[in-house]
Amino acid sequence: MSHPEPAPAPAGLRRLAFGGDYNPEQWPEEVWHEDARLMREAGVTMVSVGIFSWALLEPDPGRYDFGWLDRLLDLLHVNGVRADLGTPTVVPPAWFYRAHPEALPVGKDGVRYAFGARGAICHSSTAYREAAAGITEQLARRYANHPALAMWHVHNEYGVPVSACYCDSCAAHFRRWLTARHGSADAVNEAWGTAFWGQRYRSLDEIEPPRTAPTVGNPAQQLDYARFADATMRENFTAERDILHRLSPGIPVTTNFMTALSQCESVDYWAWGREVDLVTNDHYLITDGRRTHVNLAMAADLTRSVAGGAPWLLLEHSTSGVNWQPRNPAKRPGEMARNSLAHIARGSEGAMFFQWRQSRRGAEKFHSAMVPHAGTDSRVWREVSALGADLGLLEGVRGTRTVADVAMLWDWQSWWAQSLDWRPSEDHDARERADTFYASLYDHHLTVDFAHPDADLSAYPLVVVPALYLATEETGRNLRRYVERGGTLVVSYFSGIVDADDAVHPGPYPGALRDVLGLTVEEFSPLLAGGTVRLTTPEGAPQGPGLTGDVWSDVIVPRGAETCWSYADGVPAGRPAITRNRLGEGTAWYISTRLSGPDLDAVLDRALADARIAPRTSLARDVEAVRRTGESGSYLFLINHTGTAAEVPLETPGTELLTGERAGKECTVPAGAVRVVRLDG
Ligand code: GAL
Repeated sequence: MSHPEPAPAPAGLRRLAFGGDYNPEQWPEEVWHEDARLMREAGVTMVSVGIFSWALLEPDPGRYDFGWLDRLLDLLHVNGVRADLGTPTVVPPAWFYRAHPEALPVGKDGVRYAFGARGAICHSSTAYREAAAGITEQLARRYANHPALAMWHVHNEYGVPVSACYCDSCAAHFRRWLTARHGSADAVNEAWGTAFWGQRYRSLDEIEPPRTAPTVGNPAQQLDYARFADATMRENFTAERDILHRLSPGIPVTTNFMTALSQCESVDYWAWGREVDLVTNDHYLITDGRRTHVNLAMAADLTRSVAGGAPWLLLEHSTSGVNWQPRNPAKRPGEMARNSLAHIARGSEGAMFFQWRQSRRGAEKFHSAMVPHAGTDSRVWREVSALGADLGLLEGVRGTRTVADVAMLWDWQSWWAQSLDWRPSEDHDARERADTFYASLYDHHLTVDFAHPDADLSAYPLVVVPALYLATEETGRNLRRYVERGGTLVVSYFSGIVDADDAVHPGPYPGALRDVLGLTVEEFSPLLAGGTVRLTTPEGAPQGPGLTGDVWSDVIVPRGAETCWSYADGVPAGRPAITRNRLGEGTAWYISTRLSGPDLDAVLDRALADARIAPRTSLARDVEAVRRTGESGSYLFLINHTGTAAEVPLETPGTELLTGERAGKECTVPAGAVRVVRLDG
């Protein structure tokens, strides 16, 4: 990934970013002065403004009202708060849709969405593109030299709530995109396998978006449509970005991602990460009873990886509960600080929130904020102010990089392909595998980088592949090279099956990965709902615990790989279940059933031993230790998610920055607290 060094930072910001989305247009101007005072009190350094303000900035077509935004930016400036200024292109005004109803997107079922919420955009609409370029240009011309301007925030969360439009303009645009990708109708017929079910096209003009059809639509068509929709949004982002670069040089341009795998599925962030000047992310805890801090760590690691390992910025999270989940618990005392500092440990250059002041009206009035409905005599406000003060003590962390131990392969396009219909089992879920493997690595206290399947993996002693259904021949060669040169690879089932067109690789499964794994799979044998299979270590092999898998089994033919566990029952009884292939200087493991918790840990322990990664047994479960390092020093973040104090041994003594105390052989982290040790030397 080609990122300039050092990564661009918000202009003029000398501290970690701390603040939130600020929507003063919802409040009378007297309140703005109160806001500015409170921002100073809480140590706010930057706010995101104007994200949803198009209708106010351009009240009538071509008539602009910038007065309020001028006053606001001036007020922020005199109060030392920098502005992450939005281009408001996620919500065009009502008058725009009156003139251009075709710019409202159409669902798969042919129904056009209505105005009245947000993000109702057909990204192929010429009228929308022109209008978005127009307002962006106006803002850039007016504010490029404003002293409060720190960075540009284009649009808001591309991909949600509408990720693809199925209208006729999109159909025409899709045909142009197909021409660029495939060249001709014949090439599309080949790539999509239209010989199946008589779907052959004589010309590209006959092709439509994959709208609602009587039964399962062509999978390759759907996969290409997902790519097209993503690329179309990216065209609109880069169009705005280029205007800003031209008219406002030197000011970084971003758009807020949602890399958490549950929150935006339709955007290929590997591609987007290359287009923004600074990667920024929004993250909300999914409070469904699972360990939310593990999901948070995963999202932060994924965001850093999308940024090529460079620092990035958490642009939104919540001070307490959100309002869009079925049940929205308040955060527990200390949780907000743990969340914020966990993001920073994993590479964020600050912690920003949605939003500064809790709204009284509108769809998000029950969403927490930095200034809650309860006002400043509240736990949330006290914790916000305390966090602002703490971040002031961590300035040295800026510009340092998080140190990762291992890598996990992840590819959005493979995920899209695997999620299509009529797969061998609906119980296999790529994201679940990624979550489960990540949780096991987290519980081993390993920091994970995510990597694109074709990335250079040579820096990592261990690479895990939890679900890579779509893998090209090139990926197969990359993984083979990695192992031959000494890497340890762990691959989970249903990986390496199809190419970029969702066509099964010729020959036995797993086509792209047969060589590296030293085996073939004769047949998949998914289990019935709730079914399990038992695994035992065969005689003559190193003995290990009995394991239980579910969801999946494979009928494996070893072709060089040794069997470490075999099936004790099920269709493949007596045959290999978990294998290990020595290749060149390295080792490739294959796990052909779904393992979780201690069963997965048992296999990963063996792979970690191959990779010569020593277990970090001195850390308690749910005590997170993550290091950032750079020119200003090395910083060890210790985050205690448990209800008991933790004693963490230190290899090097240092100074704990939040308390100012010296830390010698160990650092005590009180229950629920965070400590950041600047290590000596
Ligand atoms: C984000 C969005 C914000 C706000 C927030 C609420 O996805 O960018 O505008 O809606 O969610 O959690």
